[in-house]
Amino acid sequence: MKGIILAGGKGTRLYPSTKVISKQLLPVFDKPMIYYPIATLMLGGIREIIIISTPDDIVFYQELLGNGSQWGLSFSYVIQEKPLGIAQAFVLTREFFSNEKVCLILGDNIFYGKLDFFRNAIKNLKFATIFAYEVENPQDYGVVVLDKDKKPIEIVEKPKSFISKYAIPGLYLFDERVFDFALTLKPSARGELEITDIQKIYLQLNELNIEIIGRGIAWLDTGNPTNLIDAALFIRAIEQRQGRKIACLEEIALTLGYINRKEFVAWVEKMPNSDYKKYCLKILGELDG
Ligand code: DAU
Repeated sequence: MKGIILAGGKGTRLYPSTKVISKQLLPVFDKPMIYYPIATLMLGGIREIIIISTPDDIVFYQELLGNGSQWGLSFSYVIQEKPLGIAQAFVLTREFFSNEKVCLILGDNIFYGKLDFFRNAIKNLKFATIFAYEVENPQDYGVVVLDKDKKPIEIVEKPKSFISKYAIPGLYLFDERVFDFALTLKPSARGELEITDIQKIYLQLNELNIEIIGRGIAWLDTGNPTNLIDAALFIRAIEQRQGRKIACLEEIALTLGYINRKEFVAWVEKMPNSDYKKYCLKILGELDG
């Protein structure tokens, strides 16, 4: 399975911070935001990743992330000329997929905790799987209404009045048909190809699986200044308490065997002196005992 990270958009809710910098390049505590969704995909075993961003920003992602080989990954880059909706990701990337399933993650979605829910969903994927997460402010998200057996009945993008406490996080698994379904979508009233319209197609076919993510997992939003600082403070609190970094891509790559010790050392040696480098060296020290 290949992954797509959608890292375009205008980030208007974070203006002026996003006037000249792409939102998903802004730091969340000690690393760029996009490191977190990359880490999520890596932990799900996904190593071929297509990164989508704007014509202006794509070069910065290329400079930051390269071809991914330093982490045992393979990155391709695709431009989204205009932010015409999350589901456009499938229209833009269809040529990269031949009869393959796909995982889409939004570049501003952060997950923290044991990701078994994600790995199991990938392993058991049939048709489409999306997740549901209880939040205080469901009106800010795509929302799913569940029946008493926790089966989906209805999906609404940013409902005006309360219909369900379950928001749909920006992490989606679809089978190979999604690329054709995306071509059938019409822009919504706000002029976007809506990811919720893709979900509704699978729902109508009775082929939409919902996995509820329990509260043992943190799903963090970085959409506005308050959410962004809350996410940063959350990451800092855990990292400082444990002395372990969240979403250190070098550590994940080494631990999962995506790179070997030699490759790890060669890459870390090139880093400028920083806490991040110190942490990578600590990981190496632990490995060597
Ligand atoms: O975070 C989860 C939510 O993400 C879902 O619950 C909603 O169903 C989904 O529509 C989306 O809602 P948002 O209000 O967060 O969507 P937003 O327009 O902010 O886009 C989410 C990210 O995707 C953002 O970082 C920018 C990027 N994006 C968005 C659009 C519309 C693109 O790269 N290109 C686009 O065309």
